Amino acid sequence: MSEPIIVVENLWAGFQDRWILKNVNLTIPKGKITAIMGPSGCGKTTLLRCINRLHQLFPNAKIKGRILFKGRDIYHFKPSQLRREIVMVSQKPTPFPDMNIRENVLAGYTLNGIKLKEDEKEDIVERSLKMAYLWDEVKDRFSESPLTLSGGQIQRLCIARALALNPEALLLDEPTSALDKKATHHLEKLLTGLTPEITVLIITHDLHQTDRIANNLTEWSQITGG
Ligand SMILES: Nc1ncnc2c1ncn2[C@@H]1O[C@H](COP(=O)(O)OP(=O)(O)O)[C@@H](O)[C@H]1O
Ligand SMILES: [Mg+2]
Repeated sequence: MSEPIIVVENLWAGFQDRWILKNVNLTIPKGKITAIMGPSGCGKTTLLRCINRLHQLFPNAKIKGRILFKGRDIYHFKPSQLRREIVMVSQKPTPFPDMNIRENVLAGYTLNGIKLKEDEKEDIVERSLKMAYLWDEVKDRFSESPLTLSGGQIQRLCIARALALNPEALLLDEPTSALDKKATHHLEKLLTGLTPEITVLIITHDLHQTDRIANNLTEWSQITGG
């Protein structure tokens, strides 16, 4: 196996008096696509939230164990830094409705108060939209509202917004669950184009999906929870 980028050791996570993840151990290889499957409610989303430290933002959350990113405990990173390097795209990604398409791609910078020069912005927008296989569809529509896009395009716009930050890893929570066949195909094509530069951790319900991206899929993990 190639060098690990994320290592989960003896992870327990839950809420109040209930553990959802019970002693999960997992190694995510750098530059590959890793798929996680499991029944609904077993804790897949919780696992992703633990990895970029979102889980503990719930007031009733509890967590123990260790997660390493590039060999360092995730608690040694500033949360904002960690979430720029490991970006999560949630299951129902929401574009910012009061920003246009271009502003949405750059939102990770503007919302964090990071100033960019005009030519940097231009480069980031083009690179991210091309990586997300969305460039051709929106290049003449930058000033339109993201709400004019289809579900599949919105999904790719939110992935472009994540990619704009130049992350090392992308966490995708059932990205194709609401997409039709064609949009799913676009998304799978996008994913295989990201590696090896970007490590992808994807949650999927679709066994055939893992087959389709199997050329790049080297690591298979299944978690079961109680
Ligand atoms: N904020 C919360 N408070 C209490 N229980 C929660 C909370 N969020 C999720 N859960 C519960 O944790 C379990 C795992 O949820 P989740 O990680 O979303 O599962 P999956 O993504 O595998 O469907 C579920 O039983 C869910 O109801
Ligand atoms: Mg989930």
